[in-house]
Amino acid sequence: MSIDSKDPLLLDHEYDGIRELDNKLPRWWVWLFYFTIIFSAVYLVYFHVMRAGPLQAGEYDNEMKIGDQLKAAAMGKFEAGIPTLQPATDAAVLDVGQQTYAKLCAPCHRADGGGLVGPNLTDSYWIHGSNYSDTVSVIWNGVPAKGMITWKSTLKPDEIQAVASYIYTLRGAKLATPGKPPENQTPAPAATTSFE
Ligand code: HEC
Repeated sequence: MSIDSKDPLLLDHEYDGIRELDNKLPRWWVWLFYFTIIFSAVYLVYFHVMRAGPLQAGEYDNEMKIGDQLKAAAMGKFEAGIPTLQPATDAAVLDVGQQTYAKLCAPCHRADGGGLVGPNLTDSYWIHGSNYSDTVSVIWNGVPAKGMITWKSTLKPDEIQAVASYIYTLRGAKLATPGKPPENQTPAPAATTSFE
């Protein structure tokens, strides 16, 4: 397409056969452009000179703080409810629990719960109490001095409930390979041993 060389918008200079077309920009575009300049000046003064608002990093910190508060509240609520918790029997929950167990717990408690570094979870000898809530509480708080990890910082409350419910189903399991013998543990009194 050839350009009419008499076009009044065409400027007279020419470089390598290319001539400049002095096309007027639409008004709305020009105003938008002015607006961005004004906006940047206001932005600069507000955020960097007066420091009146939080920058991205500050906003991130604020949101993290809110998130931490929500998390702490949810964790506190779960922790307060541990004594009255009941093991879940829902197959989907137990399935999630089994997956968590296989991934995180089996290395120390053996795939079938028979015990390795950690104690046997299938016998009736419990170091920290045989009630379901004792189990949840040990998983939640861990026993750092004895090598049992504090899982509340890694697992969510419902994941802890799921894995605790799963290992609850291992109680009394008949193991193909004998499990770890009781270590300095007194057997749970029959009345509080839930699987008996
Ligand atoms: C790094 C090894 C390790 C891992 C991983 C581990 N445990 Fe333990 N666990 C232990 C040890 C060691 C003990 C014994 C603590 C003691 O002697 O007080 C224990 C104790 C326990 C007890 C209490 C047993 C009792 O007799 O009272 C439960 C319940 C338990 N673990 C569940 C879990 C679950 C669930 C997981 C996975 C989320 C897990 N453990 C992962 C090492 C581990």
